[in-house]
Formats: sequence, C-alpha cells, structure tokens
Amino acid sequence: MKSSRFPGFYKLSMEERLKKIVEFASLTEEEANLLRKFGNLDPKTADIMIENVIGAMSYPFAVAVNFLINKKDYVVPMVIEETSVVAAASHAAKLTRESGGIFARATAPIMIGQVQVVNVRDPFYKKMIILENKDHLLKIANDQDPILVKVGGGAKDLEVRVIDSPKGPMIVVHLLVDVRDAMGANAVNRMAEAIAPYIEDLTGGKVYLRIISNLADKRLVRAWTVVKKEVLGGEDVVDGIVYAWSFAAADPYRAATHNKGIMNGVIAVALATCQDHRALEAGAHAYAARTGRYLPLSVWEKNENGDLVGSLEMPMPVGIIGGATKVHPVAKIALKILGVRTAAELAEVMGAVGLAQNLAALKALATEGISRGHMELHARNLAIMAGATGDLVDKVAEIMITEGKIRFDRAKELVEQFLSEKTLK
Ligand code: MEV
Repeated sequence: MKSSRFPGFYKLSMEERLKKIVEFASLTEEEANLLRKFGNLDPKTADIMIENVIGAMSYPFAVAVNFLINKKDYVVPMVIEETSVVAAASHAAKLTRESGGIFARATAPIMIGQVQVVNVRDPFYKKMIILENKDHLLKIANDQDPILVKVGGGAKDLEVRVIDSPKGPMIVVHLLVDVRDAMGANAVNRMAEAIAPYIEDLTGGKVYLRIISNLADKRLVRAWTVVKKEVLGGEDVVDGIVYAWSFAAADPYRAATHNKGIMNGVIAVALATCQDHRALEAGAHAYAARTGRYLPLSVWEKNENGDLVGSLEMPMPVGIIGGATKVHPVAKIALKILGVRTAAELAEVMGAVGLAQNLAALKALATEGISRGHMELHARNLAIMAGATGDLVDKVAEIMITEGKIRFDRAKELVEQFLSEKTLK
C-alpha cells in the first residue's frame, strides 16, 4: 500500500516534491515535464502563492467583446474550461448594445466580520452593552488598519444579533467594514480578531469564531438592461425568456441552473483577474436563498413596448488591490485590458457580464435549445484540431452536424478528403 504521508513535504524544493509524486503516481517523464511547464506564471511566484506546489496548469484566456456598460466599451477577459461561454457572453452583449447596453451600479464596499459569543446568560441585555461601546470597538478595529482608514475605508458600524442555535442562544456581532478597493477578507478578519477580547470583557462570554461572512449582502451589484424584441427575433422570444425566468422563480431545481448560468460569466472574469471565486460563489448562492427559498439572482420581464427588460442583484466582493490580483502577472494584464480603476467598477462589469451570460442562456433555451450552439462550437473545435483552417473549418463542422457525427475521427477524415481534393485540383 502506498502512503500519502510525506513528512516535511512542504519544506522540499518544488523539484524534490515533484519527484516524490512522480514516484507515488507512476507519472511518466513526459507527464512530469508537462507539470514543469509554468507558462506565464513564474515558478517562484507559483511557489509562494500556495503550498506544496509541484507544477502549474494552464487554462485558456479569452476575451468577450461587444460589452457596453454604463455607456463605456469594455473588452472582458475570461478564463474558463467550458465551450460556448465566451461566445454566448459576446453575443448577448451585442444584443444589448442597440438599446444602450447594460447599466450597473455597485453599492459601497461594505463587508461583514462576524464575532461569535457563547455562554452569555443574558444575551439581550449584553447586546445593549456592546452597542453602548460601539465607538470604542470601532476605534480598536480601525487601529488595525490605518492605511485603509486613510483612504476613506475602515470599520464604519457595528450590529448585534442574538441567534438561536442548536447549542442555545448566541450573540453574533457584525462589524461592518468599508474595504474600499480590496476584497477585504484579511482586513476584516484582523479587525474581528482585534475586537474579540473586548467583547469577551463586555459580555463575560466566550468568543469562538472571528471571521468574515461570505454572505456579503451589504456589498451588492445591480445590473439592468433593455433588449428590443426585434433584436431577439420577436415577442415570442421575449415571452419564452420571461417564462424561463418564471420557471426559475418558482422552482429551486431550475433556479440553481439559472444561477449557474450567471456564474459562468462572473467566475470566468473572476478567474482571469484572480479573484476569490469561492467567495463569489458562496455569496451568490447564500444571497439567492436569503428569503428561506432559493431564488434566481436575476429577473426578466416584458415592458410596455413588448421589449425584454432584465435586472440582477447579487453580492460582488471583488478587489483590485492585495491578494493574488497583484501577484499573478496575467491577472494584472486582465485588469489592464478591462481598464477598471476601482473594485466597484470591476464589480459593475462582472454584474453586467453575469446578466448578459444569463440572457444568452435563456435566449438559447427558449428557442433552439442549448445543444445546437454547443454542438456547432464543438464541431468547429474538432475541425480545427483535425487541421482545418479558413473556410474549411465551417465546411467540415457543417457536414459533421448534418450527419450527426461530431467526432474527431470524422473531422480528420473530412479534412484529409478536402485537402487531397484540393491537391488534385
Ligand atoms: C450551462 O453551463 C449553463 C446553462 O445551463 C444555464 C441555464 O440553464 O440557464 C445553459
């Protein structure tokens, strides 16, 4: 039996670690060499970003085009493994342009830090005592991050909740921190940790957890757009999209997929700009379920002209300073391509992309279905992989779609056939 115990693994050099894993998993030299390819990430940078690094993995870096957001044109970097997402985002962005594009607004960047207090006999009374000492607690929090305070951020307010839990009532203190252009987890966690001993003094209770909440419901982005019925192919398509949304609003099984479509766009931008995408996912889904029922993050309606109007509201905790954003060289390039100047602007772009991605999915679902678009792209990709270039890509893809045989071996056969016909001519 092989053991996964590698004492002191983290202290080894990257190459030594890789050697151990090559042996453990019987990797070939070719496979090891592939892991050794760091591409556009310097090995030293990779090694400090996370622990136990043995290599790197590349994803395609693409851009979605056509985005007009708040009357400004954006080219949107996207990193994702799924076919069709980038094409769909670009397509939907084009549909919105005719009526002025997408509009989006981010709220103030307020993140919540939670401090959990247990063993308090009189939690409601102690709630008052904590609130009475709010200014002092905010000062302690702000002393942790003078730079954030200097740029206009910092702990701004404090709320106290008493919750019922399986272990009895608990006091939960919420520290509301304006994190400016950061994602904010580090600053918020530091502040929550700093106020904890004072909260214990004030309540006589015991503090356990001191950590940011990913239900970032005070750091939202709102996005909205109008799409003309003519651009969509008629009022029937508008109705289809409204029915699709209505389905999601009534059924959590559908709402999960509806929101997954939104996250396809949001997470692709998050990956390109090195955001904490787990925080975005957690926040989005918790927000979708905030009423006790899991709901779609967007709404699609028909306006008085018969046109489609869409809106979206979701947490968008993203940063452009600190974290990996400033460490990964490609994330820096992604931000440069986007040309965003603040985290709020990035949040607005990502909200708009989420809405566009959702529009593309619902339009496809309400009309021809999602498979055709996927199939076309897949067929084209296979044709390219088989060596087709120029017009031949579409020719080969079309034949495979008509035949219903979208396979690499058929693509290769067709490419070879066309190329030999051309040589004979
Ligand atoms: C696929 O990645 C996303 C969709 O399923 C979203 C949706 O159903 O709305 C197409």
